[in-house]
Amino acid sequence: MKRKDRPPPDREEAVGSLEGLQRALSGAGCFRQAHRRPFVVLSYAQSVDGSIAGRNRERIRLSSPESMRVTHGIRALSAGILVGIGTVLADDPRLAAFDGAGPQPQPVVLDTHLKTPPAARLVGRRDARPWLIHRDDLPSSHGSPLREAGAHPMPCALGPDGRIDLAALMTLFCEKRIDSLMVEGGARVITSFLRSRLADLLVVTLSPQFIGGLPVLEVPDSGDSLRTRLKEVRYQPAGPDMILWARPDWGDP
Ligand SMILES: NC(=O)c1ccc[n+]([C@@H]2O[C@H](COP(=O)([O-])OP(=O)(O)OC[C@H]3O[C@@H](n4cnc5c(N)ncnc54)[C@H](OP(=O)(O)O)[C@@H]3O)[C@@H](O)[C@H]2O)c1
Repeated sequence: MKRKDRPPPDREEAVGSLEGLQRALSGAGCFRQAHRRPFVVLSYAQSVDGSIAGRNRERIRLSSPESMRVTHGIRALSAGILVGIGTVLADDPRLAAFDGAGPQPQPVVLDTHLKTPPAARLVGRRDARPWLIHRDDLPSSHGSPLREAGAHPMPCALGPDGRIDLAALMTLFCEKRIDSLMVEGGARVITSFLRSRLADLLVVTLSPQFIGGLPVLEVPDSGDSLRTRLKEVRYQPAGPDMILWARPDWGDP
């Protein structure tokens, strides 16, 4: 099948490997045009008790070298990679794909109040200018030190919870022709994307350890349940880890 004839990734066969993802994402341009947003891959690593970090949000190594290779492969296949400011402050990530032969994914941070330190590693990257998505009523001068350090602050509307409105963000990505987006965390961002049903594929590394740390979902005492079934489930062993590939079943036709 020629690349332009491919069906969009939500109409294709189940994805259970990097090769399958590559096939699926060749239809991401059609997906963006049809849905007015990128195809979203939600990906993170968790312990068997569902922790993604330590109790005080400190970073804990969860992925083995084998599963890390898959994570970097997903980054290399994605047009954009997104985390929240909590992850930038806790982990100081570069958000780069180390084995990407092609262009690097566009790094994006949800940073309502522009708290990203100008000395952050991703701001210092020479091969990509990170987009820092902030509330649209901040004075432009607020972003000057970050702009000078190499980042690209970008205003976006706020939602009723005072955080970046994900629907407005999707429109922004659409305008910027971001066809596919890898969302890597942390807990608050993963929860927001799931709550907004903005996940087309889930890739979760299960690390064989207990941590008793930060739960992957930020669930309020009251409010809507986040209960969602997964479909088209595939498991891929990766060294000591198991990687789950699945689609959330949003009940769409
Ligand atoms: N195991 C893994 O795969 C993995 C991956 C990534 C991160 N982590 C871990 O996750 C932890 C960080 O998670 P976290 O929950 O503290 O922070 P986070 O999810 O990285 O960032 C959350 C922050 O992003 C900002 N934000 C703006 N718009 C948002 C929106 N619509 N929805 C959600 N957040 C929005 C908010 O900042 P304001 O409050 O300023 O508005 C919010 O507090 C770290 O410990 C890190 O190590 C683990």
